[in-house]
Amino acid sequence: MQTFYTDLLCIGGGLAGERVAVEAAQAGFDCIILSLVPPRRSHSCAAQGGMQAALGNCAMGEGDNPDIHFEDTVKGSDWGCDQEVARLFADTAPIVMRELAFWGVPWNRVVPGPATYFKGGQKFEVYEKEEKAGLITARAFGGTAKWRTCYTSDGTGHCVLYTLDSKVLELGVKIHDRVEALSLIHDGENCFGVVARSLRTGELLVYFAKAVLIATGGYGRLYKHTTNAVINQGTGLILALDTGIVPLGNMEAVQFHPTGIVPTDILVTEGCRGDGGTLLDKNGYRFMPDYEPEKAELASRDVVSRRMTEHMRKGFGVKSPYGEHLWLDIRHLGEKHITTKLREVYDICQNFLGINPVHELIPVRPTQHYSMGGVRTNKDGAAYGLKGLFAAGEAACWDLHGFNRLGGNSLAETVVAGRIVGAKIVEFLKGYEVDIKTQYATAEVKKQEERINELKSKQGRENVYQLRNEMQEIMMEKVGIFRNEKDLQEAVNRLQELLDRSKNLGLVSDGIGANPELAEALRLPGMIKVALCIAYGALQRKESRGAHYREDYPYRNDKEWLNRTLAYWEEGADLPTLKYEPASKVFYLPPGDRGYGEGKVIPKDDNTEEKE
Ligand code: FUM
Repeated sequence: MQTFYTDLLCIGGGLAGERVAVEAAQAGFDCIILSLVPPRRSHSCAAQGGMQAALGNCAMGEGDNPDIHFEDTVKGSDWGCDQEVARLFADTAPIVMRELAFWGVPWNRVVPGPATYFKGGQKFEVYEKEEKAGLITARAFGGTAKWRTCYTSDGTGHCVLYTLDSKVLELGVKIHDRVEALSLIHDGENCFGVVARSLRTGELLVYFAKAVLIATGGYGRLYKHTTNAVINQGTGLILALDTGIVPLGNMEAVQFHPTGIVPTDILVTEGCRGDGGTLLDKNGYRFMPDYEPEKAELASRDVVSRRMTEHMRKGFGVKSPYGEHLWLDIRHLGEKHITTKLREVYDICQNFLGINPVHELIPVRPTQHYSMGGVRTNKDGAAYGLKGLFAAGEAACWDLHGFNRLGGNSLAETVVAGRIVGAKIVEFLKGYEVDIKTQYATAEVKKQEERINELKSKQGRENVYQLRNEMQEIMMEKVGIFRNEKDLQEAVNRLQELLDRSKNLGLVSDGIGANPELAEALRLPGMIKVALCIAYGALQRKESRGAHYREDYPYRNDKEWLNRTLAYWEEGADLPTLKYEPASKVFYLPPGDRGYGEGKVIPKDDNTEEKE
């Protein structure tokens, strides 16, 4: 069996993993990245609209600063985030955007002179200042007081990922792609590395590392409709959960993006609405200002997704063979704007819908997009429970986003947290000598061999894909945008049945190497456990906060629920154990009204009054 030794093992080759690796490699540490796919195909590459950072260069961003970015982020999170983390993030983001420019990211820049922009379909003129010429510009995104989202047209993730991947290669970081980490090697206190499996040969591999980073992105593929890539199955979260001692934070906080295209669910960026696009119903009527007079299409994503669903429920959706949808209208932005600043959207519409968005409406509906929850860490990115284990990016619950993430704050989080957590890992590695207890690796390898052999030899009745599809249906139908006790309880019951049935899988294919069915079978029980953490956490949280909306508890209840859920999975259990901790140690911005959305709050210090 091949065994590798390194200082830092990054599980995940997207933006967060690569940015952390850069930090460690620059400090002279040896680093290996494990990735399910070649890193340039990581899901970070699909990110379109941009990264928030308070640079204040463009006319509509004038006067912006990290204080305002911090406030927008906390309000966006519905006061569910860790405010120390939000502060650190807002202060560091501008530095990181400039650093990326220095490394080669071709940000769109301020062009001085008169400029015409759109807001909610209306044209307006501003003057971009001479002294800002050539500085990084920004576009509007939802839930922000200023235009702050730095972008490279609508291919921001692509540009930043290619730039960082070149940096990683330049620094000599080793990439082991098409390798999947199956379990963490640990003694209950220290993490020593992972047992992994080559997705090409099926061989088991052992990686020993002084520090291990989980940066595997989101788990959108637990849902039937998602903007996420097929690799986003929560693999890193399963590793943490399987230890029984590393908790997942706020798993019930799941984001739906307002504009996934129908029927493929591919994202068309919030930048469409940021640049002035509008949402129309079956009558061609622009409905969002009726619900959200001030922010309209640019309220936060949880709010826009709910309002869209509400409007469709009232009968204003467009019927189609693929379900109901609404329209996104960007026609008024004009051909030049669409084929330059929204050129990925243009290509997606042409290639996946066969329409031209310069002249035609885009069919859209809210679609699962992002997981605010993840491996719970402290503000240094160190996972709770195991020394030497860290997490960053979407796989982590750092916790910048609380119960709703603002658009443009996750792509920024990957590189901002990447830099901050990377620096903390470097501090950790300096002078750290770990006494690697190899017996734990031997035991873990044996366990994984037994799992694989059992799967290959057992003629179980259950089909992997059938069970996975059932899980995705349940999550979509019962644990979606609007939630209630009955549906959530049913989801929990049915997921528990699936978990039980997943012990009886029978494989159709018998390949030992590149066998996707086997890889899926190895992941499936873990995916169902992660789904149970979401559904059970949502069932227990009897309030509405951000993206977690309970029809039977429509108020945000700061009196009882200003906290974060921690989900643990004990060996042999059929449900997670839930614990709670305060949402934030400090409240620089005291809980209040977001200024958009339902605005129903039971205040922390007085539960006699319900504020509307
Ligand atoms: O709409 C978008 O471009 C997505 C951005 C994000 O999720 O932050």
